[in-house]
Amino acid sequence: MTDGLSQDRDPAPDVRVPAADTAPAAQPTSEIVLKPAARPSRIPRPPAEPVRAPVEVTIDGVALVVPQGSTILDACRAEGIDTPTLCYLENLTPVNVCRVCVVEVTGARVLVPACSRRVEPGMEIQTDSERVRHSRRMVLEFLGSSVDLSTAPAARGYIERYAAEPGRYGPPAEPAAPGKRDDREPGHHHAPSGSTAENVFQPVKVDNNLYVRDYSKCILCYKCVEACGEDAQNTFAIAIAGRGFDARVSTEQDVVLPESACVYCGNCIGVCPTGALMFSSEFEMRAAGTWDESVQTVTDTICPYCGVGCTLSLHVQDNEIVKVTSPLDSSITEGHLCVKGRFGFEFVQSRGEPQPDA
Ligand code: SF4
Ligand code: SF4
Ligand code: FES
Repeated sequence: MTDGLSQDRDPAPDVRVPAADTAPAAQPTSEIVLKPAARPSRIPRPPAEPVRAPVEVTIDGVALVVPQGSTILDACRAEGIDTPTLCYLENLTPVNVCRVCVVEVTGARVLVPACSRRVEPGMEIQTDSERVRHSRRMVLEFLGSSVDLSTAPAARGYIERYAAEPGRYGPPAEPAAPGKRDDREPGHHHAPSGSTAENVFQPVKVDNNLYVRDYSKCILCYKCVEACGEDAQNTFAIAIAGRGFDARVSTEQDVVLPESACVYCGNCIGVCPTGALMFSSEFEMRAAGTWDESVQTVTDTICPYCGVGCTLSLHVQDNEIVKVTSPLDSSITEGHLCVKGRFGFEFVQSRGEPQPDA
């Protein structure tokens, strides 16, 4: 007779106890053999992605079917529509702060950011209406009048595409004195005279040997903050301080990088769209007038420092490595590296004196 529960119990362990009458007297009275778990015959794989239901939308009058969960930007890209983006990057969580990707959705009160708004059944989307073009033009004029975009070719291309005129706000105001922008406090902003264009111009921060921070070129896209935080590095060495026009990227208490939590992974440089964060090597070569991307080669290799095997893209000019990046679509790095892979390349160039023949 069973108690009705025994079938649900775990199977008995594989225990073999020799019969008492056959066991030698001097031997242990029991022998326990635990059966090891069966080895998997195949490498474990993640569960298959659920099939996403199709969603019907209309973009610029063309009916499309896209997978559920796609963003409007995904749908536009699948259709070959070149939508401008500045704060969006495939390896970061969208924060929708630049608003240069906005599109018009029928029935929506305001323009919506294509980079983060997901498609819904029956959505009618306009990507190039006058309202969309006007909004993008305004955003680009504000950026172009207040930020140095000299090393931001994508932003300058958008300014041209949307015929933005940053110069109509007047000549740029004087740059801030060293540290002045970082000293500003919320609620203490004074309205400008109106005769000049307010801007974020300020001295470059050079406080370490690996990279410089030129916040005159910062469009406040948050990408560096995300890469330093939960999206990659989880170091949280930088954040946005201040409010409104005084908002800026800052270390804790605005300390210099060597005194901050920064571990010099350089992942912030890797995602910065404007050159506000730049390798010291590139910064110095630009200052000397020798930086020339047209003659540089980019070669992928594997980082020699550890067993992770990150993909490194070596940017080489005149037979010297001038900076290191990693491809966004690398399944190992997703574009992110550590301090060794990113900056530890100079030993390659330490060729030393030629040795006499033995
Ligand atoms: S180098 Fe790395 S740790 Fe330092 S601020 Fe940039 S992302 Fe953060
Ligand atoms: S420093 Fe670069 S990445 Fe960071 S907010 Fe400014 S523009 Fe964006
Ligand atoms: S790219 Fe969409 S808000 Fe910046």
